[in-house]
Amino acid sequence: MMLYKLNEILFNKQISSRYWHMEVFVGQDVDNVLPGQFFNLLCSNENTFPFLRRPLSVYKINYDKKTIEFLYLVKGDGTKRLTKFKNGDCMDLVGPLGVPFKLNNGARHILLVARGVGIATLTALAQYAVEKGIQCHAILSARTKDDLLAVRLLTSLGVHLHIVTDEEGTSELTHVKEIMQKIHYKFSIQGIYVCGSKRLSKLAKSFVIEQKLEGQIALEEHMACGMGVCFACVCNILNDENIESVRVCKEGPVFDLRKVVL
Ligand code: FES
Repeated sequence: MMLYKLNEILFNKQISSRYWHMEVFVGQDVDNVLPGQFFNLLCSNENTFPFLRRPLSVYKINYDKKTIEFLYLVKGDGTKRLTKFKNGDCMDLVGPLGVPFKLNNGARHILLVARGVGIATLTALAQYAVEKGIQCHAILSARTKDDLLAVRLLTSLGVHLHIVTDEEGTSELTHVKEIMQKIHYKFSIQGIYVCGSKRLSKLAKSFVIEQKLEGQIALEEHMACGMGVCFACVCNILNDENIESVRVCKEGPVFDLRKVVL
């Protein structure tokens, strides 16, 4: 894990009304980064406010350029501060943190299900899976077309995309389930990976249980320290019929979808 390292920001730009995209040079440390992990970014170099870091999932890992990329939603003081960073500024970040996604040996087709910025961490997984020869299918859900993220990158990776939006009235669960069924019946997917929506996660959970598939979820509980100390990010896991409280930042953020209490 890298600790409190200052890394150069290559770009930090707004890509839609609510979302920003940042690329940071991390050098050889990039070799330790896996999809599903996150970094804790200090939101300002100027003073200590807000002193807490913001956890951002890795969106793209560029092992050749030794950089990582993040997508982030601007919704509070911390992320507003992040937008102030300019190209060439230094970013103080800690990571990679957390448990990454696992891909089963022998998987040929997997399905990614994401809403909003939840697609960031699943895009890193898609990149990783495609490099292993796994065909990815993805259902992307968003409020509006303007909120859709990563479409161009996923398309360039050869991911089969199914887009649903609230504004078009296509994001209802019954419709999403129909899409899941069609993809599964046609390609016999081996696993579902989900992030960004409790409703979609519940749907995906019932689908993997019903169809006896692998399933993983990247949780986005509110984090504070991001390092397992404060217990601000606890969620419940069902283990052998016992409910166990675990820290999303330490034992996660990726969990077995069938075990997470949603
Ligand atoms: Fe502090 Fe997880 S954020 S323990």
